Amino acid sequence: MKDKLSKCISNRETKHTPIWFMRQAGRYLPEFMEIRKKNPNFINLCLSSDLVKDITLQPIRRFDLDAAIIFSDIMMIPYGLGQKVEFIKGVGPTLGDIKLDDLVNINSENFTKKLSPVYEGIKKVKLELKNKSLIGFVGAPWTLLLYMLNKQSPKKSFNFNEINKDKNLVDRLLKKIEEMTCLHIDKQIEAGANIIQIFDSWAGLLPEKELSSYCYIPISKIVKHVKSKKIPVICFPKGIGKNYIQFCKIVKPDCISIDYEIDPEWIKEKLNGLPIQGGLDPKILLGDKEQVKKNTIKYLNIFKDYPYVFNLGHGVLPETKPETVEYLIKIIKERE
Ligand code: CP3
Repeated sequence: MKDKLSKCISNRETKHTPIWFMRQAGRYLPEFMEIRKKNPNFINLCLSSDLVKDITLQPIRRFDLDAAIIFSDIMMIPYGLGQKVEFIKGVGPTLGDIKLDDLVNINSENFTKKLSPVYEGIKKVKLELKNKSLIGFVGAPWTLLLYMLNKQSPKKSFNFNEINKDKNLVDRLLKKIEEMTCLHIDKQIEAGANIIQIFDSWAGLLPEKELSSYCYIPISKIVKHVKSKKIPVICFPKGIGKNYIQFCKIVKPDCISIDYEIDPEWIKEKLNGLPIQGGLDPKILLGDKEQVKKNTIKYLNIFKDYPYVFNLGHGVLPETKPETVEYLIKIIKERE
């Protein structure tokens, strides 16, 4: 039997509103922080299949959610390609220099061997999950290219022309990223992931005229690949505003995840029944119960009788109280 999330996305059923959250396993959970304290190296944590399993299941044990998302990171692809990746507190992901000739020579076997604990982790989670989706994920080619060349979060400093100046480097790197992304997806599906989400967290930094080359076309290739495996795919092109419509027309995902800047009413009118996920501003969960209720009900009302997956407009913030997440889920369930 299909789980609720698959029914909503693949069959466009509207009877239930499936619920899961981006970063549902993360720093707002004391049980995550306990493991994290003992494991200061984040990449190593992502390479421990038992801890990957435990952390993935933490929010599932606590809350009535409809899907688990594998605890991992989009930076596992640069890591698998041999780039140095560190997570520095207060700074975020910090990457080493690229040696392009070495990087393009990494073959499938080297790559999947390095990342095998991720796939082992998925297998272990799958054994313990009943009637729930298991979401695998990747970063979109643009977001990965950006981190790999900028070597740190573009929040601190970013210049598109700087990233784009060596066309030959960009083209070779993008090609390799696309190839390894498809491989990473195949391996996650083989291990038991039954839905894939593609995160283009920095799509909003692209100049509009570059969206086609760096966002729509590369993601279209990945989406086609996932669809060829008969697995549904959710896309999250964060920050592209009105271009969400163009994105859906060209890329044709099975479900579109909207960020908190998108007007839910506007997008619902434009998308002709394409399943929609998310939207609620994660900052709302830092406020009082009344605000949480009011805003949650706003989304539920707009998407009544529409295939809608409840989620946020970005990840759960570390300052969020777990009780607020519990309360949010209660409101959604009461409305069903
Ligand atoms: O959603 C989930 O529960 C699954 C796990 C998940 C993580 N990262 C775990 C994580 C997922 C889906 C991601 C994706 C990811 N990673 C994205 C795309 C989504 C988005 O947030 O836009 C991006 C851009 C990254 C890169 C990354 N990893 C950043 C920017 C950070 C935060 C760094 C910081 O210091 O604030 C991470 C670290 C990270 N990935 C954490 C978690 C739970 C926090 C790690 C910690 O304990 O320090």
